[in-house]
Amino acid sequence: EKGGYDTYMLKEIFEQPSALTNTLIGRLNDSTGEVNLDIDLDPKSFKRISIIACGTAYYAGLVGEYMIEQLARIPVEVDVASEYRYRSPLVSEDTLAIVVSQSGETIDTLEALREAKKYGAKTLGVINAKGSSMTRELDDTLYIHAGPEIGVASTKAYTSMASAFLLLALWLGRARGTLSEQQGAELLHAARELPRLVEEALSPERVARIKEVAEKYAHSRDYLFLGRGVNAPTALEGALKLKEISYIHAEGYAAGEMKHGPIALIDANLPVVVVATESFLLEKTISNVQEVRARSGKVIALLSDGDTENAQHADDVLYVPRSHEMVSPIVNVVALQLLSYFTATALGKDVDKPRNLAKSVTVE
Ligand code: M6R
Repeated sequence: EKGGYDTYMLKEIFEQPSALTNTLIGRLNDSTGEVNLDIDLDPKSFKRISIIACGTAYYAGLVGEYMIEQLARIPVEVDVASEYRYRSPLVSEDTLAIVVSQSGETIDTLEALREAKKYGAKTLGVINAKGSSMTRELDDTLYIHAGPEIGVASTKAYTSMASAFLLLALWLGRARGTLSEQQGAELLHAARELPRLVEEALSPERVARIKEVAEKYAHSRDYLFLGRGVNAPTALEGALKLKEISYIHAEGYAAGEMKHGPIALIDANLPVVVVATESFLLEKTISNVQEVRARSGKVIALLSDGDTENAQHADDVLYVPRSHEMVSPIVNVVALQLLSYFTATALGKDVDKPRNLAKSVTVE
């Protein structure tokens, strides 16, 4: 049942190319540059979007916020469901509430959905589990079609959710006229490339290299993860994955925030994973890397293939396939999933059943 893999988590990490194919396929229309989502909601009928979720799904929502604001120019806010449901949210008929959930059963997200409906919001789900509780209460559901996810640490659901947000952003952007035909076509192409790029991110050489780096730092007490822009959530998700399955304390930060506090943590024992792939902000990220280095922190840099120039600033480099910046979180996170996986297995932890965690959190 684990298809020859030692754990469900590893199996699910390797299922990502096919999960992404299932999320995207049939929804991309190359001849028109449009996406077909089979959603009845009118993309022009709302003025703001509220994304609501927990945990990894929340981080996928942060990627979604970036994509939707950039491509469709609609104000988006993202909330953790447990906060949203109790803060009398300012919602009206012109709000689209998007709930994001692998299981479709998380109680806080379900209750937040009910709260949004109470105030008249239109509701859309980005959901994996067919026929789950949320899908029965939503106006519309965009299934991510990632297939069953058994490992407690979410992996393929995350990359499929983020891809579903790209589809939503394209759908909204095209309908609302904020995205030209040419930009649409370029992003459609980037989306189509995703399964292949993630497959490439899982090549045996890359996996072996990540394992080596994971083992080198497996006995660290803490870890810091940094990223910027659309990859700021990649840092948050990388840190969450590591703490969930290896029990190493990890924090994720937007790289620009480092100076505002976490920089105090840096010493020679702190590995700092920096997502420093191709970006219009790369120069800024590299200066953060230099700041870490100047304080003897150990830099593990995620660099785009071929970026030998910036390799000099890092203690260890993990090369990742080059991708369009807007889709890069989906490619980049794979290296961080594997980094936490190999850290946890090096420490002898049970990655499929991490202590204190449940696959779906149906109690408050
Ligand atoms: O089923 P959901 O997507 O609603 O679950 C949300 C979180 O409980 C979940 O993502 C959790 O954070 C995972 N253990 C992350 O790996």
